[in-house]
Amino acid sequence: MEPVTTTALRRMKERAEKIAVLTCYDATTARLLSEAGVEILLVGDSLGMVKLGYPTTLPVTVEDILRHTQAVSRGNTRALVVADMPFLSFQLSVSEAMRNCGRMLKEGGAAAVKLEGGHGILETVEALVAAGIPVMGHLGMTPQSLHVFGGYKVQGRSSAAARRIVADAKALERAGAFSLVLECIPPQLAKQVTRELAIPTIGIGAGPFCDGQVLVVDDLLGLHTGVSPKFVKQYAHLAPQISQAVRAYVRDVKTSRFPTAAHSY
Ligand code: KIV
Repeated sequence: MEPVTTTALRRMKERAEKIAVLTCYDATTARLLSEAGVEILLVGDSLGMVKLGYPTTLPVTVEDILRHTQAVSRGNTRALVVADMPFLSFQLSVSEAMRNCGRMLKEGGAAAVKLEGGHGILETVEALVAAGIPVMGHLGMTPQSLHVFGGYKVQGRSSAAARRIVADAKALERAGAFSLVLECIPPQLAKQVTRELAIPTIGIGAGPFCDGQVLVVDDLLGLHTGVSPKFVKQYAHLAPQISQAVRAYVRDVKTSRFPTAAHSY
């Protein structure tokens, strides 16, 4: 199968073919997901919460994302790998953004980066695209702005807030973004943005009208036991299966049922 490119994604939107996106953080999972047909592997800064044990995404560093992007690129077979730029890795200056984002392509093997934000980052997006670094935008409930929003809350509910999201989406497209994540906004707003943009929109908690969908892979696989957000659909429940397997192993070790002659040289 052909490797997925930013232009291929645009053509998928034109053909009304939906785009499947998942987060991914390691080489083994990257191989499984890309071979299963996922078009974009997003090395999300959700890494901080789902893999590194932080309470928010804010502590995630450029080195964290770079190391996991390298692993995902090594396991990937055909998906487009997108590195999610961590908090304060692209806001300080255009040149700092260029250096940090450039590392994701040069050293990480990513084909693109994702930046949270709207009007405040347009100059940076333009400069990155002009330098050859494809940019995915991210609007709505952008987790790096958690403290500005006062919590993980649906965005764009008022007509003024909705207008700002539409204006930011159009501005990001004009600045050269190749696609746009819409997180936790009302479905009708996501529908409007999707209709008014030529670039594909990727929804999470934004209803069924986006050009594609993204989920955190650990949520889809049911790898944790806590409460999931409403927008999550679990396609497997691996946490209890893992517990059961490990309990069986512990029991076997303690009762000398493992290893046996069959496992010995
Ligand atoms: O970090 C992340 O996982 C994300 C997606 C959920 C969009 O930004």
